[in-house]
Amino acid sequence: MAQKILVTGGTGYIGSHTAVELIEAGYEVVIIDNLSNSNIEVLDGIEAITGVRPVFFKGDCNNIEDLRRLFTENPGIEGIINFAASKAVGESVQKPLLYYRNNLATLINLLDLMPGFGVKGIVFSSSCTVYGEPDKNPIDETAPIKPATSPYGNTKQISEEIITDYIASGAPVKSIILRYFNPIGAHPSGKIGELPIGVPGNLVPYMTQAAAGIRPMLTVFGDDYNTPDGSCIRDYIDVVDLAKAHVIAMRRMLDRNDTDAIEIFNLGTGCGVSVLELIAAFKKATGVDIPYKIGPRRAGDIEKIWADPKKANEVLGWKAKVPIDRTMKNAWQWQCSLPK
Ligand code: NAD
Ligand code: UFG
Repeated sequence: MAQKILVTGGTGYIGSHTAVELIEAGYEVVIIDNLSNSNIEVLDGIEAITGVRPVFFKGDCNNIEDLRRLFTENPGIEGIINFAASKAVGESVQKPLLYYRNNLATLINLLDLMPGFGVKGIVFSSSCTVYGEPDKNPIDETAPIKPATSPYGNTKQISEEIITDYIASGAPVKSIILRYFNPIGAHPSGKIGELPIGVPGNLVPYMTQAAAGIRPMLTVFGDDYNTPDGSCIRDYIDVVDLAKAHVIAMRRMLDRNDTDAIEIFNLGTGCGVSVLELIAAFKKATGVDIPYKIGPRRAGDIEKIWADPKKANEVLGWKAKVPIDRTMKNAWQWQCSLPK
């Protein structure tokens, strides 16, 4: 019988791509989402790609009674992937309590209910934001955690500590913490992708909207950094590559009894790409120009960070594979499928 996995935030950007990969790997997927940052039509996309419509439960992970009802109505859930969170860095500075409540209460509720409902493990979405500005790149999992620069970043640090402390207390659960670098792109089918609400804060949705004429111009936030072309450097990881890592992590966590109760992995490509290089890669892949101008630095930005993904490569046997031009094509195909 297929193992049943709960995907919280499963109609969101990374959650929907992961639901597809889980279904294609033979798992039964149950999604809970409160649709605060996604919409129900995403289920049509998942079904169009996989031929399977996952069970959907509209509910709030902050509400422990919603979760209790979900676990009761869907017995036999073995693992959880916890994507449900608020994720806008700027908004978190304006509304810190919303972020602390949503991101931390969700995790605490899930952990609390896991033993009673026989759930063995939880994969948690963390972020390279926990490293702050690295002392050296590429950065591996042993690097120090730096003070968070936003309430959002702090929720990721605290969440990692909550999981660690809970497992250290002897709770009968396992966890794999995945520190994502910069997820971008869309499913190659063009049927699911990122759906930013309002003005995008992240680079790639802004780029594709500028290329589509929805925004007049992309602003590159600073060209006076200490980098070869002066713009910031990140490790952009294709969302499907990222999604596949979750399937591998889930399999490892649930099916093996020789692994540590808690493990942490960087998920990145190992390559640093600047903002200006990414704009050029988009043009090369799609033939479409992105109108842009150079603007001032954005407060709080990291100058350069990219992953040392060796641990994930060796221990998980996972490696980012999708080339950047394919990722750019997929992002553009997705943008073109959206209403203007
Ligand atoms: P997203 O906003 O697209 O998806 C999150 C989903 O969770 C949304 O569908 C939203 O409606 C839902 N949700 C939020 N709060 C909820 C709640 N209380 N109950 C039920 N559903 C709730 O975001 P994403 O980009 O897919 O990110 C997924 C996870 O990965 C988040 O935890 C995020 O912090 C983390 N992450 C994202 C990035 C990134 O750049 N996208 C980078 C690092 C880490
Ligand atoms: N950028 C621009 N113009 C824009 C938007 C972004 O030049 O309009 C630049 C930024 O200055 C930065 C780079 O593009 O140099 C990437 O910016 P993003 O906002 O796309 O991504 P960040 O690296 O700032 O942060 C993202 C998520 C965080 C997450 C982090 C690490 O927003 O939630 O990646 O995973 F923590």
